[in-house]
Amino acid sequence: MPQINDLVKNNQYDFIIGSTHVVQDGLDLCVNDFFEGKEQQEAYREYFEEVLYNVEHYDFFNVYGHIDFVNRYGNYQNKKIDYALMKPITDKIFKTLIEKEKGIEVNTSGFRYGVGGPHPAFELIKRYHDLGGKIITVGSDTHKPEQMTYKFDIAYKMLKEAGFEYITVFDNKIPRFVKVF
Ligand SMILES: [Fe+2]
Repeated sequence: MPQINDLVKNNQYDFIIGSTHVVQDGLDLCVNDFFEGKEQQEAYREYFEEVLYNVEHYDFFNVYGHIDFVNRYGNYQNKKIDYALMKPITDKIFKTLIEKEKGIEVNTSGFRYGVGGPHPAFELIKRYHDLGGKIITVGSDTHKPEQMTYKFDIAYKMLKEAGFEYITVFDNKIPRFVKVF
């Protein structure tokens, strides 16, 4: 998208999070139209397909944000993603990111949205690690000052359990690996 490339080229950022909020036919995930008439896991799969398309086609970002946050939305009773079913596509997403020397964000806003954990969930954090992922940032998607670093202690525990030794921070888009746990 030329507008994004211009914006990134003409301004200085320490790091950029890419994320998917709208699917290709223009439907915003937080508006329930996207889910209407769709079988739950099929809707989730369509979202992950869109993420895959984006990570394959765009390069302006350093990490991909809140990769599984689609489970915040949709009027389903049990908002669980079937991660085993999604594995072929989430593996492709991670492999593409790793190949492109990009990373993922662990976004603790999931705790605020009642998902019971960060985005992505532990399963995906671990899988990203096991596929060779090294670049991983932690963010709280803060909308209010008091949300800053919310539940970072739990996110750090999860990262450690998944096998990470460092989190990543960026200066002028160059990754630096920091030991925080
Ligand atoms: Fe977002």
